[in-house]
Amino acid sequence: MALEKFFSPNSVAIVGASRKKGKVGYEILKSMIDAGYEGGIFPINPNTETIEGHKCYPDLESVGQAPELVIISVPATTVPTVMQQCAKIGTKSVIIITSGFKEVGKEGRELEQRIVQIAKQAHIRIIGPNCLGVIVPANKLNASFGGELPEKGTIGYLSQSGALLAAILDMANANSIGFSKLVSIGNKADINELDVIKALAGDTETRVIAGYLESIVDGNAFVSQAEQISYRKPILLMKAGGTSAGAKAASSHTGSLAGSEVAYECVFERAGIIRCDSIKQQFDYAQAFANQPLPKGSKVAIITNAGGAGIMAADAVEQHNLGFAKLSDETIKKLAAELPAAANLYNPVDILGDALADRYEFALDAILDDAGVDIVLVLLTPQAMTQPAAIAEAIVKIASQKPTKPVLACFLGAGKIADAVKILRRGKIPQYDSTEVAVSTIKVMFDYLRWRTRPKRVVKLFPVNRRKVENVIERYLRRGVREIGEEDSKEILEAYGFVTPKGSIATTAQQAANIAQQLGFPIVLKIWSPEILHKSDVGGVKLGLNSAVEVTDAFDLMMYRIPKQMPDADILGVLVQQMCGGGKEVILGMNRDPHFGPLMMFGMGGTMVEVLKDVSFYLAPLTAEEAKQMLISTRTYRMLKGERGEEGVDIDTIAEGLQRLSQLVTEFPQIQEMDINPYVVGPAGTTPIAVDARISVEQI
Ligand code: COA
Repeated sequence: MALEKFFSPNSVAIVGASRKKGKVGYEILKSMIDAGYEGGIFPINPNTETIEGHKCYPDLESVGQAPELVIISVPATTVPTVMQQCAKIGTKSVIIITSGFKEVGKEGRELEQRIVQIAKQAHIRIIGPNCLGVIVPANKLNASFGGELPEKGTIGYLSQSGALLAAILDMANANSIGFSKLVSIGNKADINELDVIKALAGDTETRVIAGYLESIVDGNAFVSQAEQISYRKPILLMKAGGTSAGAKAASSHTGSLAGSEVAYECVFERAGIIRCDSIKQQFDYAQAFANQPLPKGSKVAIITNAGGAGIMAADAVEQHNLGFAKLSDETIKKLAAELPAAANLYNPVDILGDALADRYEFALDAILDDAGVDIVLVLLTPQAMTQPAAIAEAIVKIASQKPTKPVLACFLGAGKIADAVKILRRGKIPQYDSTEVAVSTIKVMFDYLRWRTRPKRVVKLFPVNRRKVENVIERYLRRGVREIGEEDSKEILEAYGFVTPKGSIATTAQQAANIAQQLGFPIVLKIWSPEILHKSDVGGVKLGLNSAVEVTDAFDLMMYRIPKQMPDADILGVLVQQMCGGGKEVILGMNRDPHFGPLMMFGMGGTMVEVLKDVSFYLAPLTAEEAKQMLISTRTYRMLKGERGEEGVDIDTIAEGLQRLSQLVTEFPQIQEMDINPYVVGPAGTTPIAVDARISVEQI
């Protein structure tokens, strides 16, 4: 396993082990001793002979062997010297606890670069600096100052915040939640979040990868590798902080609606990562993944001793669009034979308020045997005669005898259920303090199952004319112009299979009238000048012209007024264009995130998109299913599809437009932002028209 020496070293040196209680170097040494670490412990401190009964060494060289892991807890300016000693003695794994590096500014950054340089030359891997350390309960390794060694478990945790990790540890210890490994990654000078996630993915003791992140070092590598890992193990992440994408001034609608939050949502969605909003939520979910099998489907059965709790759970099942298990006749017969006459034998199965452990045991056993049940949720409220602890034991017993379906518990109450909760947790039954949380955990398990079993992603490649686009973009970049003009944007769109409105340039009013007659009315006139990008602002767009006279009048007016307003603009004529109408206006867009690449956007409302904000985003390149999903996830999708007798538009052509755009922006990283707006779509069988586009490019 990668990072092995960090997780199971045979000897550990603590450089900066202090004599004084409360100091970091002391607490690390004490944590190592208290955890019962069985390998060699070498405290390094030139100012004392022993600490806590352990012989001290003045420096690493005096140890006489290379400890497999070195923990550094000396002031920042001393760290390079200690790193050189590590290089000299041949230690390859170092945890640097010390702060005062890149998080404090320029000097700190330079110091950090120095230690990275030493590490690279000597092939040393570093966790940190500015971190809390590493904890591996199974190896009795507590190389940290985070607190007591937690229980052994199957959750692998990584945290970019050391302080938060300490809080997580405390909470986990209070709730008997166990871990396989805990890693505080600090400044990620060398080992980063992906390295740890990969190590946990390959670790046989880890079933669930959980963590807290503030940033991601390499966006593309993270997306592709996390996606692969998610197929094998669930990844549950809390994410705080943003990227610079949100701060960048946007010139397109897509750019102004996209931001770092959107980018992370897209990345998590693509990579199958389950996003958590709080530590509690993360542990609610992690408990289930760590201790229970994944369900085979979404059919939930509920067992309860309280009608009200059963109804609340059933409501939550419905709200989360989960299935409600229909018990077989055989199961109902079995239940009827043993349960009191007043019991409700149908899901939610109400075994009544006076139910003792035997009734729970019997009902759970029978329901787990029912082929129509995928997941069982066991509810309990503590009545006078209820024996929560005995019931918890019964649930643990039956669930371990029939381990193929997930069993979750929701014991409601506080003092009366406290012992039962401990029994459930120890018995690997996830326990929740509300029906809503229990059911939303089931939903998350089911969504993960669906993600994992989705069809393989296949990105369709359309035949396109790449050369044409290359030429246009190069021309603009050579001139140092970022915004592509309308005619050239059309050329780009057409090269990628979009249909744009027909039209040509007229230089006289008569010519304009002739072109209009050939195209058919209504007609749009647009002023044609490389210097005028925002045509409407100068009266350079005239819509809905219905006759040759209206066209010549509008032409003359434009050619009279605009040169006065913009005397320096080189006016080449007027574009006479077919007017598209009758369809619905949508927007297809892209904004390039600096870390994760192109984010595709679909939005309703064309020019009203920023007001309506009915948009969805997805990471490019898009598959057909993903493009379709982008439409489905907007509020107005049903309207688009057609409802109550109203004819809908051709959904597939919009999805295809998104895929074509995704191909374009994937093949041309120079395109930074792009809107096709409006994209006018009509009923099935009609061709959508890309009426206007805004494309901005940058030299890369
Ligand atoms: N080799 C070995 N031991 C050395 C040494 C060296 N080169 N130089 C000093 N020491 C000893 C000192 O004698 C001292 O021991 P003592 O207390 O018994 O005298 C001990 O190492 C610590 O050195 P000291 O100078 O007292 O430093 P400190 O304990 O005040 O601070 C850090 C050191 C690393 C704790 C501090 O710089 C720091 O970074 N604190 C923040 C840590 C943190 O929050 N990390 C992130 C968590 S998320």
